[in-house]
Amino acid sequence: MNFTNIAVLVSGRGSNLQSIIDNIENGTIPHASVKVVISDVDGTYALERAQRHGIEAVFVDSNKYENKASFENEILHIITQHDVGLVLLAGYMRVVGPTLLTPYKGKMINIHPALLPSFPGLHGQQQAFDHGVKVSGCTVHFVDDGVDTGPIIIQRCVPVLEDDTANVLANRILEQEHKVFPDVVRLFVQGKLIIEGRKVRITD
Ligand code: GRF
Repeated sequence: MNFTNIAVLVSGRGSNLQSIIDNIENGTIPHASVKVVISDVDGTYALERAQRHGIEAVFVDSNKYENKASFENEILHIITQHDVGLVLLAGYMRVVGPTLLTPYKGKMINIHPALLPSFPGLHGQQQAFDHGVKVSGCTVHFVDDGVDTGPIIIQRCVPVLEDDTANVLANRILEQEHKVFPDVVRLFVQGKLIIEGRKVRITD
């Protein structure tokens, strides 16, 4: 495995994918390259973004596989062909199972739009907003076999303001996502993230 070769798994618009691509292209993440973008949803804007940058973009249709293991086996096959050493979940809306996770344990990173361990799962921004928190943010973490439970790498906070809607808050969080995810990818590629149990030490 070459840990500068990256695969990005997506399900939607791909703005985080775009921030990774942009930071690689402008030299902020040296030596890395996105080798393949895989979507479990057909026709996503994320796939189009990948194509525009000359990156292989693949739709893997879960309906064609008889179970999750064989679906994930196909994804594993694709990323192995590209000698991928880092898998990013950037708005990938499925829980990763053992077929894909086991070979990439410690090499698979997710971004979540809330301050974990609060508000895991779907619609983290809305959950936090509805709960009435005064501060929210985003979390980048290694993936484990739970839902948004893996070792936390970096978190960034934003305030929740009096006149916010959930949408305004989500956009404020997204701005931070676009900064912090590339930061984490750079640290990973440079070998500066060390997992020690539940904690991640950053040796920058
Ligand atoms: C982001 O809010 C991310 O934190 C969450 O899904 C959303 C994906 O957005 N996991 P995008 O597809 O990267 O624009």
